[in-house]
Amino acid sequence: MNPLREGLIKERVPEPQVMVIFGASGDLTRRKLLPALYTLARERLLPAPFAVVGFARRPLGDEGFRQKMREGCDQFTRLRPVDDTLWATLADAIYYHQGSFDDPAAYTTLKARLEEIDTSLGVPANRLFYLSTPPSAYPEIIKNLGEAGLVTRSYSPFARIIVEKPFGRDLETARTLNRQLKQVFREVQIFRIDHYLGKETVQNMLVFRFGNGIFEPLWNNRYVDHIQITGAESIGMEGRGAYYEEAGILRDMVQNHLFQVMSLMGMEPPVSMDSDAVRDEKVKFLRSLRTIPLDKMDEFVVRAQYTSGHVLGESVAGYRQEPGVDPGSTTETYVALKLYVDNWRWANVPIYLRSAKRMPKRVTEIAIHYRHAPHQVFGSDGGRGPVRNVLSIRIQPDEGISLHFGSKVPGPTTDIAPVNMEFRYGTSFGAEPPEAYERLILDAMLGDSTLFTRDDEVEASWSFISRIHEAWRQQKKKQIPLFEAGSWGPVEADELLGEGISWRTP
Ligand code: BG6
Repeated sequence: MNPLREGLIKERVPEPQVMVIFGASGDLTRRKLLPALYTLARERLLPAPFAVVGFARRPLGDEGFRQKMREGCDQFTRLRPVDDTLWATLADAIYYHQGSFDDPAAYTTLKARLEEIDTSLGVPANRLFYLSTPPSAYPEIIKNLGEAGLVTRSYSPFARIIVEKPFGRDLETARTLNRQLKQVFREVQIFRIDHYLGKETVQNMLVFRFGNGIFEPLWNNRYVDHIQITGAESIGMEGRGAYYEEAGILRDMVQNHLFQVMSLMGMEPPVSMDSDAVRDEKVKFLRSLRTIPLDKMDEFVVRAQYTSGHVLGESVAGYRQEPGVDPGSTTETYVALKLYVDNWRWANVPIYLRSAKRMPKRVTEIAIHYRHAPHQVFGSDGGRGPVRNVLSIRIQPDEGISLHFGSKVPGPTTDIAPVNMEFRYGTSFGAEPPEAYERLILDAMLGDSTLFTRDDEVEASWSFISRIHEAWRQQKKKQIPLFEAGSWGPVEADELLGEGISWRTP
C-alpha cells in the first residue's frame, strides 16, 4: 500500500521505520515522547522492527541517553511500573547521536548511522523526524536534512516530519516556516502536531456529532443561543515566565489548542473521515470567523493578567513576580473573545471563548447554550426564569458530556428544577484514556494526518489571531486589566457577554 495515502489506512500497523528526535535531551522527549513510545511498545503497536535515535548537543552516548529515557518512563508513563523485560528490548532500539543542529557534518554522520541501523535491522530507509527543539532551530534542521540527502520525496521508502508547536509566532512567520518545510518535504509528509487533537474527548466530538442522528439537527442558529468555550488552568508559569513573556496566552493556547477544539465543534460534516475531507471543513470554519475591525478590538477581545492570590488553597505570586517576567509586563495570561461565524449554520450565534492561567481549577469544556422554548407555559422558576438547556462537553478532567434541563419537582405543584443527564468516560468505559502523544505518534508512523494541522489551517488561524496582536500593538497600552489569581477573571470579560448571559462556573 502507498504509505502516504493518509486517512485511508485502516490497519493500525505501521511499517518498519527509524524515528529521529531533534532536541532529544529536552523535557518533551523525557516527559512525553519516550513514555508514549514505551506505552505503544507495551500495547504492541510499535512498528517491528523499529529504532529511535535522539539527536542533541549534549555529550550523552547511547547508554547515557537510554538511562535518562528510562528515568522519564519511570516517572511519566501511564502504565507504571515499567516492565524491565520490555524496557530492555526497547532500550536496545534506542540510540543517541551527538551534534549541533547547525553543523552540516553532524547530518552526514547521522545519515551513515541511520544506514548502519537500517542494515542491522534489515529494514528499508523509512524515516520519521521529530522537531522538538526551540523553534529558532527549525529552519536550520530542515535545511540540513535536505542537504544531507536525508529526505526522500518518494512514497517508499518514506520520510515524514513531525513539527512541534509553536508553529510560527504570527501569520508571517508561520508562512515562512511552511515555505521552508516545503522546500524539502511535500505537504503529505509534514505533521504539525497539536496535542489537543490527540485527546480522546476532542476526537469524540466528531463521533458525537456525526456518528449520532439526534444532535446534529440541533447544532445550529435555530436552536443555539450562544456557545462558551473554556480552557482554564490552575497552574501559573512553572518556570516558563521568559517564554510566556514572548508568547502570551493567545499564542500559547488559543491560536492552536482552543481554535482546534472550536473548529471541530463548529465545522460542517465532512464527506468522509479522510484527512483532507476533515481538514477542508476545519479550514472553511476558520475562514468564516468574522474579521474584527482593528479599532473595535476591545469590544470583542479582553486581555488581562493575574496578580497574587490563592489557588487551590495555596497562596501564589502574581504574574509580574514570576521568574523571567518583566515587572512592568503587559503580556496577557487571560484572554476572552467574542466571536461570530459568518456562515449559514452559525449566523448571529456568539461564541465566547476564554483561556487563562491561575484560574480556580483546571477545566477545558465546550458548553452549548440552547434557546428557551418559544412559549413559556410554566411561568418562571421562582423568579429565576426558565431553565436554560446546556449541553456541556467536558474535555478534561472528568471527561464526559452532560445535558442540563428543567424537570418537574415531585409534588402537587408544577415547580421546575434544573437537573443533569450525564455520560462519564470513567464510568462508561472504565479505562484510562491514552495519552495524546501515543495516538499522534502512532498516526504519524502510519502516515495518517487527519489529526494534524494542515498548512492552510495553520495560516487561517494565525490570520485571525495576528490581527488581534496587531490591534494590541497599535494600542500601545501600558496597563491591562488585572484580576486576582484564583478568581474567574476580570470584570471586563463579563461585559463582553450579551444581556442575561454570564460565564459558566464549571
Ligand atoms: C501547552 C501550553 O501547549 O499546553 C501550556 O504551552 C499549557 O502552557 C498546555 O499548560 C496545556 O495542555 P494540557 O494538555 O495540560 O491541557
